[in-house]
Amino acid sequence: MNVQLQGLAKSFLQGENSLRILHGLSLDMKSGEIVAVVGESGSGKSTLLSLLAGFERPDAGLIRWDAQAAGDWTEPQWAAFRKESLGFVFQNYYLIPYLTAVENVALPLRLLGHDDPEPEARKMLSELGLEKRLHHLPHQLSGGESQRVAIGRALIHSPRLVLADEPTGSLDARTGQQVLDLLFRQLEGRQQTALIVTHSQEVAQRCHRILTLKQGQLWPV
Ligand SMILES: Nc1ncnc2c1ncn2[C@@H]1O[C@H](COP(=O)(O)OP(=O)(O)OP(=O)(O)O)[C@@H](O)[C@H]1O
Ligand SMILES: [Mg+2]
Repeated sequence: MNVQLQGLAKSFLQGENSLRILHGLSLDMKSGEIVAVVGESGSGKSTLLSLLAGFERPDAGLIRWDAQAAGDWTEPQWAAFRKESLGFVFQNYYLIPYLTAVENVALPLRLLGHDDPEPEARKMLSELGLEKRLHHLPHQLSGGESQRVAIGRALIHSPRLVLADEPTGSLDARTGQQVLDLLFRQLEGRQQTALIVTHSQEVAQRCHRILTLKQGQLWPV
């Protein structure tokens, strides 16, 4: 999926003040491109991902997928886009608390109407090194385990666009390496477009392109 952002702006009202986070942000991503976004804490990285997923609406600017403009999409259109085409790894995982690890990973397939998605979810969790945690609930998982479940859930339905917010922030070096290998193998193997927010040089270096979010815009590094 090609992604085109043009002149995106987003401010938040804080009491009487308007906090300008993004302004005039533009980005072109080709289908299959993997872009890293780095930048200081509070610079607006998670806000950018929220706009791309339709969790927040921009104050101004254009979002386009291939030739389609998402500007005037209704909430059901955004929901359909997320279900069919988007995988999202949240900064704080957002696993469904009453579903087990395998049920969380199977969820996107279930929403797409698959009758028996759990074998595939189990396979994904095994590849993520979690074959012994299939039936744990999120509160019974460590931070790094939860993060891997979140990555599995974002990839299971082979979405055309993957947005990941610090996908390996809670993993030790060795596990992080294994999870990165899996993530990049999947993204590159399936020609998925991805925007990966990271503070890790190692993650950024593996992406095709690195951009810094600063003063509300993206800059080449
Ligand atoms: N809903 C909101 N209401 C008010 N301010 C917000 C809201 N969401 C984000 N902000 C502010 O926007 C700024 C950017 O937040 P954002 O979460 O995008 O930063 P970030 O670059 O992801 O930071 P980090 O690296 O710490 O995750 C922050 O200063 C934050 O306080
Ligand atoms: Mg953030």
